[in-house]
Amino acid sequence: MNRLTEFDITELEDPGFSRAVIDWQKQHGRHALPWQNTRDAYRIWLSEIMLQQTQVTAVLGYYARFLERFPTVVALAEAPLEDVMAHWSGLGYYTRARNLHACAKRVVEQYGGSFPSDPALLAELPGIGRSTAAAISAFSSGTRAAILDGNVKRVFARVFGVDQYPGIKPVEDALWRRAEALLPARGEGIEAYTQGLMDLGATLCTRGKPDCARCPLQPRCVAYATNRTGELPVPKPKKATPEKRALMLAVIDGGQVLLQQRPESGIWGGLLSLPEFDGHVGLDEAEDADVSVLAGAAGEFGTVAEVEPLLPLTHGFTHYKLHIQPYRIALERRAGTPAGHTWWNLADIDAAPLPAPVKKLLGQLGQPTLFG
Ligand code: ADE
Ligand code: SF4
Repeated sequence: MNRLTEFDITELEDPGFSRAVIDWQKQHGRHALPWQNTRDAYRIWLSEIMLQQTQVTAVLGYYARFLERFPTVVALAEAPLEDVMAHWSGLGYYTRARNLHACAKRVVEQYGGSFPSDPALLAELPGIGRSTAAAISAFSSGTRAAILDGNVKRVFARVFGVDQYPGIKPVEDALWRRAEALLPARGEGIEAYTQGLMDLGATLCTRGKPDCARCPLQPRCVAYATNRTGELPVPKPKKATPEKRALMLAVIDGGQVLLQQRPESGIWGGLLSLPEFDGHVGLDEAEDADVSVLAGAAGEFGTVAEVEPLLPLTHGFTHYKLHIQPYRIALERRAGTPAGHTWWNLADIDAAPLPAPVKKLLGQLGQPTLFG
């Protein structure tokens, strides 16, 4: 056994924690939801799957219609998948519906139509993760098993003052350990405790503005004590956005600029833009282009009279930052119009279907330069 697992879980126990949650749930929690006050594992399982990524108010109608059409796990297993999908239509995250159907079939084939009560066995079924398995087992059989869904993670991150993103493996593992250590003792109301944690996360300890004044965990909440409810849980760290570079050629001839149709797919799909030298390249790949290289490249458009750099600008996309270095390339004589290109009057440039940064930099062309 390594040093980490030798650590005694009883050191994390706090009987006052579950007592506070249970007492609060009994007085202020939700008691009349259609999947409560039953031990029917089928109904409980169905509700937990629907509630995985969807709020209670959105689930209610679907839940009722679904049960009416598929009253038992056998009825669900025997139904065609299209029928199941049709009754899920509008709830979103459709993998849940496919898994639901597959799970019903497994329960019928493997367990004769009765869900197993052991959370470890439940967690092997399609669409049932560790937390959902524990919830189903606690509500349908009173099993002492810990849940840790997104709402509970948020509550724990605040109560324990977890100052790292709770999505990473070691932090999540530590939270599971806490979740297990804090379970109420056998026979002390795992159902109310489990429902209470869910209700707390959904109604008091909400993401935006937690209602700490009414919270039964306030006396032991680190985030409350240290005024950090707005900072916890720590959000997922953002990856640094990659930076790219584009050399854009503003080829000008007689009051017109040469525009190129962008491919339908990809960035700026279907818009017109300026022709680019070598496309969007990684920052370190792009050495400053030599003016004579650009003049050579622009040779396909005509006889080049002059090449000058314009002021650069940076445009932020969701997935990268693009540094645009534009060049004004004045022609003496036009070679024609290459395929996929079009000449556009600079005076009408506002009407062109251009990406915003390109429109902005073309605005520079209309301005007289400092030197006249
Ligand atoms: N979210 C997940 N499970 C729930 C339940 N049993 N009641 C209310 N909201 C939930
Ligand atoms: Fe959440 Fe506030 Fe309760 Fe702490 S005191 S658990 S932040 S509602």
